[in-house]
Amino acid sequence: MTTTTAADMKAEIRALGQCFWAGEAEIARNFLTAPHEPGDHVHWIRHQCYRELRGPGLLKRAHSRVQWIIDNIGDTLPAAESKEGRDEFEYQLESLRQEFTHFRLFADILEDITGEPVRMSTLEGLRLPSDDRIEATRSRLIAEDERIAHIAYSFAEGGGAGIFHAGAALETDDPLLLRIQRASRVVYDDEVGHGEHGVEAAESALDTEEELETLRRMLMEICTERLRMRSEMYGQEPDEARIAEIANGRIDPLPVI
Ligand SMILES: [Fe+2]
Ligand SMILES: [Fe+2]
Repeated sequence: MTTTTAADMKAEIRALGQCFWAGEAEIARNFLTAPHEPGDHVHWIRHQCYRELRGPGLLKRAHSRVQWIIDNIGDTLPAAESKEGRDEFEYQLESLRQEFTHFRLFADILEDITGEPVRMSTLEGLRLPSDDRIEATRSRLIAEDERIAHIAYSFAEGGGAGIFHAGAALETDDPLLLRIQRASRVVYDDEVGHGEHGVEAAESALDTEEELETLRRMLMEICTERLRMRSEMYGQEPDEARIAEIANGRIDPLPVI
């Protein structure tokens, strides 16, 4: 009889993440390496700008990191009273600054393509079918187990920067793609750190097999939904057969770049 230990499950969960991040990269690579006019990039870049702001709560969102910071300040900064709290508060402030930089890098490109200002009303109005499903899943998982759900979302944050891995690895002399490549490199370097922070939090906070099984189940749901979202953002129908293959590990891991 084989027994599964918590250590095995942590390794399995890490490997699961790697498959999904490679899946996000595959979807982006398919789009970025096909011939396109500059205007064809507007939809995905606009959507990514929205995600960079909404993810941390720079555009209003329940249970967001911005809200956590605001609530902490409202409660006279309890986070500042312990080593762990100070670490966490500083991390959250720094990662907020990084998310705004990610937005800015792509917003600048977007503005140059369209010749128009980047309006928040346009970003917020751009909701893909997957955005509503993602929001509904998030509320449901938070209601089921708030602590593990937050750990799962932190783990899945940015999808392991898969789409930026694909962007940063572009080999091109096209001026627009070169800008996308350079912006992707910056985001990739930050987001790999955010993902690692989430993975480490998961590994240190969860110890029982039951908790790890809940995390694995939540990640499976969140990450498959993220693959559908990426397809929609690049204007493609989600390929359910390929998504199932990716979830079952039939994909090469991303090389280090
Ligand atoms: Fe980001
Ligand atoms: Fe991030």
